[in-house]
Formats: sequence, structure tokens, C-alpha cells
Amino acid sequence: MLKKLQQRWKVNGLNLVLIITTFALGGSLCGYTGRKLLMLTNLEKGFLWFILYILLITLLWPLCVLLISIPLGQFSFFKRYLIKVWGKMSGSSNNSHYKCNIAIFASGAGSNAQQIIHQFSDSALINISLIVCNKPGAGVLQIAEKAGIPSLLIEKERFFNGDHYLPELRKQHIDFIVLAGFLWKMPAALINAYPKKILNIHPALLPKYGGKGMYGSKVHEAVIAAGETESGITIHFVDELYDHGEIIFQAKCEVTLHDTAETLAQKIHLLEHANYPGVIASVAEKQNRS
Ligand code: GRF
Repeated sequence: MLKKLQQRWKVNGLNLVLIITTFALGGSLCGYTGRKLLMLTNLEKGFLWFILYILLITLLWPLCVLLISIPLGQFSFFKRYLIKVWGKMSGSSNNSHYKCNIAIFASGAGSNAQQIIHQFSDSALINISLIVCNKPGAGVLQIAEKAGIPSLLIEKERFFNGDHYLPELRKQHIDFIVLAGFLWKMPAALINAYPKKILNIHPALLPKYGGKGMYGSKVHEAVIAAGETESGITIHFVDELYDHGEIIFQAKCEVTLHDTAETLAQKIHLLEHANYPGVIASVAEKQNRS
């Protein structure tokens, strides 16, 4: 139960304790203040008193919880939490001001990252909050800098055997992860922390031409060598195997006799840029509401 809450709210153990404490203290403060305020009205305890009390505590609760959250260091969590609750109560996520925070993991030129950033630059629903990269000097880092998005350069040991950079992801309140040319396998701890909230794009029609070592031009070379007449893109959830998780979307393009790995890569990139942002929007929004 506690583990589930930790996952749902994307917080560590200590923060979870502080959040539960805030709920408890905020609730008590709200009940106490509500009673005190009603005492000022000299109203007899009865049906009306009870209705007014319920109304008062409904109004006071968010304020009390926010107040208590400040000294406990949980203000930003509760601000987001209340915005989300308000969005749900007002009936539709479109009315909510809560934005889904996405981290893009990329280690290459970053043309997909660029497209995604561009697509969501004015979005009321999605915020590209962080670029995670494992290659110093990768093109995607310049893209992040130009767009004014914080970037995080990660190193192997900590990613696979340390804390997997979960504290940084939590600090930026990352709700969803998008892989766009990130070649390291995602560690189980990250997959468990973001169940069905990590997407990858692969430049071929999976399950063919995927797996370890199948990336970049190697994929296109293999497709051409096999004499395929079509290739395409696959967007899928990430699990612990390379290019293996549940497939969400595929789009195809023709492979002609004149195609080289380079020309095929260009066709594939066009398909990726045209489709990845839209799929991210629909999946992230759906997952974020659940
Ligand atoms: C894309 O072709 C994607 O399918 C694969 O890595 C490539 C990244 O390209 N996962 P870019 O860095 O976004 O240009």
C-alpha cells in the first residue's frame, strides 16, 4: 500500500512520511478551525450547524494542508496535488491547470527531441521539463540549452547500480519518460517507478529488426539486406528487454530498390517526427489521469 502510494506520487520514503503527516495535521487543523469559527456564530449544534461545518471544512482543508506543508517542505507536492484534485473535481482534465511533466532521454543528434519540444512549447497539458543524456557533447544537449530546458548528464555506474537518478526525476516531478534515441537499457528500478509511463520509438516495424545492437543505421542496413519492401516506426512501452514492451503505434513507409540506409533513415525520421509527439500526448495524458 505504502509502496503503491510512493509510486503514484513519485516520492521517496521520507517524503511519503512527511506527506502523510501533512494530511493528518492539515485535517486536524481544519477540523479545529472549523469548530472555532462556528462557535463565534453562537449557532446551536444541529442540522444547520453540521451543514455549515461540512462547508467550512471543505473550504478550509486545502488552505490548512498548504499551510502545514510549508514547514514540512512539501508545499510543491501539495500545490500540484490540489491542482490535480481540482482538475478532476471540475470534470475534465482539459480544465485542469496541471501539466504532465515529461523527461526526454536521448543521446544522439536529438531531432526527435527537437520536434517534441517544439510541439509542446505552448501546450497547456504537457511540459518538457528535463533532458537526460549519457553522452557529453551530444547534439540534444545544445537543443535543450537553446530551448531553456534543464539537462542532466548521467553516468553509467549510478544509472545502473546506484539510485538510477530517481531523486533528480522526482525533484523535477517527472510524470512520464520518453526515450528518443537513448541506447542504454532502462534499469528495472526505473521501469517499476514509472509503470507504463516510459515510451520508446524504434526505427523499424517491431518485432522484426529489434533487440540488442539494433540501432541507427544497423537497423536500416538489416532491413535493406533482407529485401524488405516496407519498413516503418514502432512506438512502444518500455520493459526490461530491448525493444520488447507493448506496442502502441506503428506507421509504415515503402522501401524501394534504390534505397540506401541513409535514404531510408530520412524516410523513417519524417515518420517519427510526424507521429511521435501526437502519440506521446495521447498516452501521457491518459496515463497521467489514471
Ligand atoms: C531515431 O531514429 C529513433 O527511432 C531511435 O533513435 C533515433 C534518434 O534520432 N530510437 P534523433 O537523435 O532523434 O535524430
